[in-house]
Amino acid sequence: MADLSTTYMGFTLKNPYIASSSGLTDSVEKAALLQKHGFAAIVVKSLFEEQIMMDVDAQRMNNMFNSYSEAEEYIEYYTRKHALSSYVELIDGMKQKLSIPVIASINCSSADSWIDFAGDIQAAGADAIELNMFIMPSDVKMKGDEIEKIYIDVARKVAQTLSVPVAMKIHHYFSGMANFAVELSRTGIKALVLFNRFYQPDVDLNTLKVTSGSILSHPDENAEVRRWLSILSGRVACNLAASTGIHDWQTAVKNILLGANAVQVASAMYKSGPEILEPWIEETNKWLDTKGFESINSITGKLRQADSIKPLAYERAQFMRYFSDAR
Ligand SMILES: Cc1cc2nc3c(=O)[nH]c(=O)nc-3n(C[C@H](O)[C@H](O)[C@H](O)COP(=O)(O)O)c2cc1C
Repeated sequence: MADLSTTYMGFTLKNPYIASSSGLTDSVEKAALLQKHGFAAIVVKSLFEEQIMMDVDAQRMNNMFNSYSEAEEYIEYYTRKHALSSYVELIDGMKQKLSIPVIASINCSSADSWIDFAGDIQAAGADAIELNMFIMPSDVKMKGDEIEKIYIDVARKVAQTLSVPVAMKIHHYFSGMANFAVELSRTGIKALVLFNRFYQPDVDLNTLKVTSGSILSHPDENAEVRRWLSILSGRVACNLAASTGIHDWQTAVKNILLGANAVQVASAMYKSGPEILEPWIEETNKWLDTKGFESINSITGKLRQADSIKPLAYERAQFMRYFSDAR
């Protein structure tokens, strides 16, 4: 039997499989089930500041004083406090019930809140914190370097303020992606999670309305994760976790070979339940044995670009051969 353990964010995980932040990690009962099925860590459903502020607005609508006043300030204070304390209770409950690391997750919309929220959640006993950070580069007045600076500042401030390890989950809409990821990895964070997945707009041709695309990922979406794992592994100063499009154990192993220290899973569980993990673990083990590898650690990043004798193969931009043959 091969050794499936991996080192991620300073933890020794019994295997590389982490339950990704989602509705499947939003209660103590669900988290306990995930642990039972073999997940080595869980990332709790994110606490969203934007959601809290929407709740604040809804409360304001009901404000019986009907004007901006101290009462409104109280509503905001109370709603934020209440949301935070519910989340803190959730983390506390998970910590009491689970033996695997519990990674809390936050998404904040204002700069100072990242520190406030993260501090309270650390105090609740979370083993680590994942910053679920996304600024869609859709503001035509905002330059790329301004957006990147926000990510770097938040990562640095939170990592320097907290004593628990911090990860940042990002998207890949950065023009200087490799350079940016390396800079981000030097802020003191312990891991980069590649990538978070957005709401995907679609169009209904009958109603002519913009609708939501699939909430769950497709296996093909993992290609972008594989690209960036292979390029960043061995170059960033922190661990890497893969997220998006991991629907089978083979994809998980490919991500590890390209540089992932851990893989996060959400959609596959929504489709087939958390019980998928037991066969994945078994098959991962069998594959390692068949190939004569003793451990997950021995294959992590084995196929990354940094150690390749043909590094340009990872950067080939177009299917030149395919198109010339197909003519
Ligand atoms: C229903 C649902 C809820 C999610 N909620 C969160 C969340 O609160 N925070 C977060 O960082 N990611 C959230 N995600 C994104 C997942 O953690 C994951 O990054 C994404 O789904 C891609 O991974 P997958 O292909 O394994 O699904 C959610 C995903 C789904 C499907």
